[in-house]
Amino acid sequence: MMNEIISPVQIKVEPVESSRIHEVDFENLVFGEKFSDHMFVMEYEDGSWKEPVIKPYGQIQISPALNTLHYGQAIFEGMKAFYKDENTINIFRPDVHHERLNNTARRMIIPETDYDTFITALEELLKLDYKWVPKKPGTALYIRPLIFASADLLAARSSDKFSYYIITSPVGAYYAEGFNPVKLTTTHEYVRAVEGGTGEAKTAGNYAASFLPARKAAQEGYTQVLWLDAKEHKYVEEVGTMNIHFLIGNTLVTPGLFGSILPGVTRRSVITLAKEWGYNVEERRISIDEVFDAHEKGELKEVFGSGTAAVISPVGLIHHKGKTIHIGDDKIGPVAKKLFDSITDIQYGRKEDTYGWVHSVKV
Ligand SMILES: Cc1ncc(COP(=O)(O)O)c(C=O)c1O
Repeated sequence: MMNEIISPVQIKVEPVESSRIHEVDFENLVFGEKFSDHMFVMEYEDGSWKEPVIKPYGQIQISPALNTLHYGQAIFEGMKAFYKDENTINIFRPDVHHERLNNTARRMIIPETDYDTFITALEELLKLDYKWVPKKPGTALYIRPLIFASADLLAARSSDKFSYYIITSPVGAYYAEGFNPVKLTTTHEYVRAVEGGTGEAKTAGNYAASFLPARKAAQEGYTQVLWLDAKEHKYVEEVGTMNIHFLIGNTLVTPGLFGSILPGVTRRSVITLAKEWGYNVEERRISIDEVFDAHEKGELKEVFGSGTAAVISPVGLIHHKGKTIHIGDDKIGPVAKKLFDSITDIQYGRKEDTYGWVHSVKV
């Protein structure tokens, strides 16, 4: 079927000769291991982004002197598209993801990209690869835009050439057998980000630096690290790939955005819904001691993470300095569940999107 949106951007399309889709076991999708037939590519050189093209997904040739490999001038986004019906694929909040991509680009002095090219590229990719959008409940097509320094340059300074790719990957349901509350631990040995650093940017180095503490936490039986602020080791920040929320009494407390936390798109959606449902919503500093005190007083009703991958992830346990608190009998709480249901209902088009969060693509 033809696209109904008249696009202002012309993207050259080189379609695959034969699809690889038969190689994919859609019943057993593992996150981020299979890539759809096509990818978007655009190069930046001599001060401007050049002709965009969509071509078969495949290997790229790089030199060992590639600036990114040495200095990590690389940024990305993570978002999802959902199967609504045989003619419609829903992309969740592409405008907000693109805004964050540009915010990240500015921090890493990577040239910004325009929204028209971004959304046209996504529409074209989905029209070509709509069969790669899995249909089972809970599944989605994960979309990964990335931009990296592509000059061959060993000097430790910004590149003047960049490559912009968008690749997509069918992903399975995050909760195959119901919600599994995660176990979090704080760490005093490491920090993730500090105000003035790159914490609020979605840039490669933030993740590389978190792998060792994450591995140590896993070896101790925890799912993830619950990051505290880098200066005082006192205030709660976020988790590896999700933001965190605390329901204390009737108040939903979410760590505020002061520069070291990634401003999550799901976080923003959670805050909007909670406000609309009449909860007191506070974005502010919250200390780990306040969380433990609230638990002691019986006021800590729920703790959950929010992020593109799981949408809402209940937290069943927090460990801090030798003490452990258990939250919610290892089950998802009613507010977390209602948020999960409401956001996924909008994503799959099961309920009307009164917020304008979904960008529907006719395929
Ligand atoms: C460090 C970090 N925090 C939070 C999030 C959640 O953000 P979003 O809801 O936009 O996926 C992510 C995932 O992208 C992340 O990598």
